[in-house]
Amino acid sequence: MKNRFEGKVVVVTGAAQGIGRGVALGCAAAGGRVLFVDRADFVADVAAEAVGAGSGNTTSFVADLETYEGAQAALAFAVEKFGGIDILINCVGGAIRMRPYAEFEPAQIDAEIRRSLMPTLYACHAVLPHLLARGGGTIVNVSSNATRGIRRVPYSAAKGGVNALTAALAMEYGQQGIRVVASAPGGTLAPPRRIPRNAVGDTEKEQAWMNEAVQQVTESTFLKRYGSLDEQVAPILFLASDEASYITGSVLPVAGGDNG
Ligand SMILES: NC(=O)c1ccc[n+]([C@@H]2O[C@H](COP(=O)([O-])OP(=O)(O)OC[C@H]3O[C@@H](n4cnc5c(N)ncnc54)[C@H](O)[C@@H]3O)[C@@H](O)[C@H]2O)c1
Repeated sequence: MKNRFEGKVVVVTGAAQGIGRGVALGCAAAGGRVLFVDRADFVADVAAEAVGAGSGNTTSFVADLETYEGAQAALAFAVEKFGGIDILINCVGGAIRMRPYAEFEPAQIDAEIRRSLMPTLYACHAVLPHLLARGGGTIVNVSSNATRGIRRVPYSAAKGGVNALTAALAMEYGQQGIRVVASAPGGTLAPPRRIPRNAVGDTEKEQAWMNEAVQQVTESTFLKRYGSLDEQVAPILFLASDEASYITGSVLPVAGGDNG
């Protein structure tokens, strides 16, 4: 797998931490020229880690992908830096709050859609001219098994949107050589986040609602456990690679048997 992404330009969003970080470093280690995109400034240090590890050919870009301008600027930067784009991997997202739907305030519903649907919708649109100019390419969207789960209905709806846009975009652009696929991770163990999902922090009540979601997620798996970051990164790298060249329009559940 060492040269899996040799000669490919890969843009990874949400690359500063978690699944996106693992994916971006994995693409770089497999020979890709990789743009690490994130809202967090320290994404530059993460891209430098890849350089430090001898992968070379990585750089970073700071953008707020909840704005269309942010998505457009990030993808334009990749073209300026590397001369084109072959693969876009959309990792930005994540439930901000866990609570019964009746407890969500309207602004909190909007925030979940902005975080977990719009960055993917915008980046998919902004990358299309570049993929078409290249004669094709691949988009991998990171969805979630939370399309069926408790305590985060707006996030579930956002990820249902990601699944729908994956299928529809794949159908529309397949003949132009563009593959669009998604992975749907389940609960994933990761080190404490440098950037929390919710900057305000959780109240005791919110932590209890979170625990209910964690319990439901664990019980819904056949394996009765969370996955690891590596178990999420590997299928995403496969979907992005040419080994998956006849897979398009589908969402791969990566959730220990829970299909979401
Ligand atoms: N971790 C899990 O248990 C889990 C489970 C199912 C699905 N997922 C999905 O996997 C993806 C990655 O999850 P994670 O837990 O690794 O993420 P995370 O919350 O640890 O990291 C998300 C990254 O995205 C960046 N980001 C957030 N908003 C942004 C914005 N507006 N513009 C640019 N960058 C922004 C953050 O700075 C951060 O680096 C998400 O789409 C999430 O919904 C995660």
